[in-house]
Amino acid sequence: MTEEDVRPRTPFDRAFLADPHPSLARYREECPVAHVVTPAGRPMWMITRDADVRAAFTDPRLALGTATPRRPQRRALNVTLVDHDPPHHTRIRRLAAPLLTPRRLEAYRPAIRAIAAELLDRLGGRGEVELLSAFAYPFSFQVICEVLAVPAADRPELYDWIATVFDRTRGEARATALDRIDAYFQDVVGRGPGEPGDDVLSSIVAAWDPGGEVARDEVVSLCAMLLMAGYESTAQMIGMSVAELLRHREILAALRADPALAPRAVEELLRYHTPGPFGTVRTTTEDVRVGGTVIPAGSRVLLSISAANRDPARHDRPDLLDVDRSTAAGHLTFGMGPHYCLGAPLARLELTVALTGIARRFPRMTPVTPLDRLSWQGNHLNRGLAELLVRPGPYEETPAPGDTEAT
Ligand code: HEM
Repeated sequence: MTEEDVRPRTPFDRAFLADPHPSLARYREECPVAHVVTPAGRPMWMITRDADVRAAFTDPRLALGTATPRRPQRRALNVTLVDHDPPHHTRIRRLAAPLLTPRRLEAYRPAIRAIAAELLDRLGGRGEVELLSAFAYPFSFQVICEVLAVPAADRPELYDWIATVFDRTRGEARATALDRIDAYFQDVVGRGPGEPGDDVLSSIVAAWDPGGEVARDEVVSLCAMLLMAGYESTAQMIGMSVAELLRHREILAALRADPALAPRAVEELLRYHTPGPFGTVRTTTEDVRVGGTVIPAGSRVLLSISAANRDPARHDRPDLLDVDRSTAAGHLTFGMGPHYCLGAPLARLELTVALTGIARRFPRMTPVTPLDRLSWQGNHLNRGLAELLVRPGPYEETPAPGDTEAT
């Protein structure tokens, strides 16, 4: 018997990557608190019911900080916000949280529309387009650069580094790219607020007290995380949403006819798909009872956002994409509790602008690959489309009366 035969099986296989929902639904129904192993053979507990996942996100006994290595780090960004627990986590987080509220971000809407318009206008008249590389990734990157006020001259190099970091085929080049991003933000923080604008980076640096409890490396890491945390997740969310709009053409048409529908459609798309099927892995600080199961102290725990988002106990007919669903906003795609996604308002704004921009210009966009044969990449923690080849179709911009989301 080989080691392969005796090792417990992992639910995270290629079928999970393509569609995690059937497997997660079985766990949610039959074994909502399950002992599983990762593809690397690491044992973990997996929680799949909406009520249990919600409770776990806000339970201080499911900690993140315990996983933080205490030895000196090669880079500041090796330890991020999701490696700290309150109260220290709160001290770092509040340097950025007031700067990323929906109200503050509203000021960036015209710039975000302009970024979308410039990228989308280039697609008109082209035969086949890979939408992630031609639109979703550069859009996601440029928007966060705009909000952080990264100087235009620095952007091409930063884009190269960040694209390398998220390219799983690049090996050692990824480590070098991370070093460069780290050095870039060390420099930003080292220079101080300079001419403080009301942009996010200089406001964070201005709000930081170098003699206080938040260390310089923690500020560097916070700034770098703002650049990186939403880059791939938002781009992938745009890709998955567009694929879904091409499957449900009636929603695409409705968005074109009435862009005011976008925030509702975005919320339901966020419930329906997520690039992160699980939150960051937690560790139990003591024995924790979940339902009828006791998870022992020191266990690693996966909180399944995807399974919770399709739990029929919260969402009626959960496998149906329904933009009129009243419970959609109750999804956990941005997590919950102290680590609730700092970029959620920005991601929502980006999705709204991107999807209305596409619906407005390319109502006849079609997929090149049949939608049930799309290829997927990543792992159980971060999954996404390997590519999304589309034919944009004729450019048919039609201003809609009272259009609030036109790009
Ligand atoms: C659709 C896009 C996005 C998704 C699905 C997403 C998802 C998440 C989730 C689930 C968490 C919580 C992790 C946990 O508790 O385990 C999180 C945290 C975080 N996200 Fe996002 N995110 C997205 C976009 C963004 C953007 C655009 C930014 C940056 C502007 C961002 C910055 C962060 C940061 C800084 C945290 C850590 C918060 C903390 O620990 O206090 N995210 N995100």
